[in-house]
Amino acid sequence: MRSWIEFWNADNPIYVNDRHKLLHYRGIASDIRDLLPGEDDTVLDFGCGEALSAGLVAARCRKLILVDAAPNVRDKLAARFGEIRAIQILAPEDLPGLADGSVDLLVVHSVAQYVSKPDFATLIHDLARLLRPGGTLILGDILPVGLSPLVDARALLAFGWQGGFLIPALAGLVKTALSDYRRIRQELGLTHYEEAEILALLDKVGLTARRLERNLGHNQARMAFAAVRFSEPPAE
Ligand SMILES: C[S@@+](CC[C@H](N)C(=O)[O-])C[C@H]1O[C@@H](n2cnc3c(N)ncnc32)[C@H](O)[C@@H]1O
Repeated sequence: MRSWIEFWNADNPIYVNDRHKLLHYRGIASDIRDLLPGEDDTVLDFGCGEALSAGLVAARCRKLILVDAAPNVRDKLAARFGEIRAIQILAPEDLPGLADGSVDLLVVHSVAQYVSKPDFATLIHDLARLLRPGGTLILGDILPVGLSPLVDARALLAFGWQGGFLIPALAGLVKTALSDYRRIRQELGLTHYEEAEILALLDKVGLTARRLERNLGHNQARMAFAAVRFSEPPAE
C-alpha cells in the first residue's frame, strides 16, 4: 500500500460491520446538519468517504458537494446519490472549477491524519478561497499529539456498546490488530497536531478559528475546530 488514498480506495477493516458504518455516517451527517446556518446554503464535504447519510444534510441545504480522492468511493457515492439533484460528486482535481466564495459551510472531517503537514497546509489554503465571507470551515477528527491507539480502541468499544455492536467491535479490534492495517499504519503513519498548530494554520489562510468543545461523531478524544472567513482571501 503506497498511500492512504489507496487504502480508502480498497475494502478495509475500519468499520466492524454494516451497523457500525451506518451509525458512524448517521452521526457525522446529523452533526453537520446541526452546523448548517441556512437552508439556502452550499455545503462542501471534503474527504466525505461513503457519506451514507448525506441525504440528511442535502435535505437541509440548497446544494451538497461531496468530494473524495478515492475513485471507488466516488463510484459508490454516484451509485447512491447520482440521481439526487442537490448532491454533486467531485474529485479533488475538480475543485479549481468552483468559484471563489461559493461555499457557505466547508467540512473536512477525519482527513488531516491521512495527509502530510505540508500537503494539508496547501489543501487548507486551496479550500479557504471557496468560503464566502462569513462562511465557516469545520475541521474535525484531528488527532492530538500523543493520542494512543488504545484511546481510539476504547472510543470504538464505547460506540459499540451504545450502538448495539459491542461484540463485533471487540472482534473488529482483534481483526484489525491481526490485519494489514497495523502494518500500513506503521508504514504510512498518521499525522497528529497540537491545538496551536491548527489554529496557526487556519490563521495563516485568513480564517478566525476556535477549537470546538465537541468533535463531530463519537470519538471525543480527537479535536474539532470552526474557522470563519471575515475578510477576502489573502493575496498569493
Ligand atoms: C476516515 S475517512 C473519512 C470519511 C468521512 N469524512 C467521515 O468522517 O466519516 C477518510 C476519507 O478521506 C479521503 N481522503 C484521504 N486523503 C484525501 C485527500 N488528500 N483528498 C481527498 N480525500 C482524501 C479518503 O479517500 C477517505 O474516503
